[in-house]
Amino acid sequence: MSVKPEDFFKNIISHSKEYGYIFQSSEIYDGLSAVYDYGQNGAELKKNIREYWWKAMVQLHDNIVGIDAAIFMHPTVWKASGHVDAFNDPLIDNKDSKKRYRADVLIEEHVAKIEDKIKKEVEKAAKRFENFDEAMFRSTNARVVEYQNKINEINNRFKTALNENNLAEVRQIIIDCEIVCPISGSRNWTDVRQFNLMFSTAMGSVSEEASTIYLRPETAQGIFVNYLNVQKTGRMKIPFGIAQTGKAFRNEIVARQFIFRMREFEQMEMQFFVKPGTENHWYDYWKENRLKWHLSLGLGKENYKYHDHLKLAHYAKAACDIEFQFPFGFKELEGIHSRSDFDLKQHEEHSGKKLQYFDVEENKSYVPYVVETSVGLDRLFLSILSAAYKEELLENGETRVVLSLPPALAPTKVAIFPLVKKDGLPELAEKIVSKLKFDFNVAYDEKDTVGKRYRRQDAIGTPYCITVDHQSLEDNCVTIRNRDTMQQERINIDALHAYLEDRVTLKSLLKQL
Ligand code: GAP
Repeated sequence: MSVKPEDFFKNIISHSKEYGYIFQSSEIYDGLSAVYDYGQNGAELKKNIREYWWKAMVQLHDNIVGIDAAIFMHPTVWKASGHVDAFNDPLIDNKDSKKRYRADVLIEEHVAKIEDKIKKEVEKAAKRFENFDEAMFRSTNARVVEYQNKINEINNRFKTALNENNLAEVRQIIIDCEIVCPISGSRNWTDVRQFNLMFSTAMGSVSEEASTIYLRPETAQGIFVNYLNVQKTGRMKIPFGIAQTGKAFRNEIVARQFIFRMREFEQMEMQFFVKPGTENHWYDYWKENRLKWHLSLGLGKENYKYHDHLKLAHYAKAACDIEFQFPFGFKELEGIHSRSDFDLKQHEEHSGKKLQYFDVEENKSYVPYVVETSVGLDRLFLSILSAAYKEELLENGETRVVLSLPPALAPTKVAIFPLVKKDGLPELAEKIVSKLKFDFNVAYDEKDTVGKRYRRQDAIGTPYCITVDHQSLEDNCVTIRNRDTMQQERINIDALHAYLEDRVTLKSLLKQL
């Protein structure tokens, strides 16, 4: 069905509320901006995504182990990591609408619009391919070159301005590009200012003794400060990785687009410690490995692309995003960063402790280099939810809303229905539930017509529905219906476990890696 992109995204948001996936935090008090709660189905989906990531990282790699560090950390950690001084976003206000924007995002969106123009020119030329003469070719080519030069000029100016922390120049780029506020339509901009994204609080019961501590803005530092503990107690040999999942907090200036950009969110990060000089090899390796992991979800190859960073975070030597096509366009899903020895060296300096590795082969000690993979669990959740959400027009004119979630991640794997609430059918259905429930998340439903029950499970994303009918009592067979194809087949009750095991377990995904 063709739905306008903005309506499509709104429909996903209301669907996720209606079916117990995501609620606005503190909704009865009108909500808290950019903070969300996961409902009964959302919590299951999120847990399954986290588990798939964890198994792929920790269980499938014999040189990666997982930890669970605390959210609160010693305040010096954030001084050493550079977050106190450099974890800022450049913000700018429009004086007429009083709306606040990230200056870098305004510029990046402007560049994306010019890139769109190039794409349109190329598409137009391809359409007219057969009667395309030399004059047309020249004028198309001239326009594309002109647009590309404009992009290069903006990008170069922007990169230099950021490297030199020249905020006046960032503002000047916005003025020169004639970027207007989408609300007021005016170019009446304030100066650009830096805004630190960390939340702080006080630890200690007596105010004079309390010290300022921060809610961690990334989970990575919990790994760096435990590098030596894990290396020694786990007898880890380089190259090796430490993985972690957990909450992170950022006081985002522009927190929009549902769970895409939140103030409290969850990260899944892995720091891979390598011998200096081998970091480029491992950077390429992890870029490829992580894309492969995303592709295994089956959401479509065309929905992913790499994007190399122009603006590097304060710790990064090279950085690349894996972008996903969200309903509002291609945006960052995961970051792969080559962090050199920046973090461990900083922590050595601030703590006075050596954070090195003795390389037996080289017979020397060094501070390892680090390649990081970092993905937001909530953002991953949104990518899966938005690719899975479909409004299908059926032959009978009805609309079917279905969540085609990867079966291994779906909150409920199978729903079991007795055709009617009598004649021993509920009893047989309950028996099947008892058989399957220790290995799979199973739902039982006997209300309404089977058609209505199918629709409810389609909307939740349950990959299989089993119907027990009168014939089942005689031949020990049931009908199993596939959510995506709506095809039904008869299957012996004793074969159900193996049938589901092949199709809905994390093992079925992990085998593809
Ligand atoms: N340790 C590196 C790091 O934190 P990042 O690019 O700032 O790098 C990594 O964040 C990932 O965390 C992003 O690719 C995104 O998926 C997720 N993320 C970052 N900020 C977020 C936010 N405000 N809300 C939801 N997810 C966020």
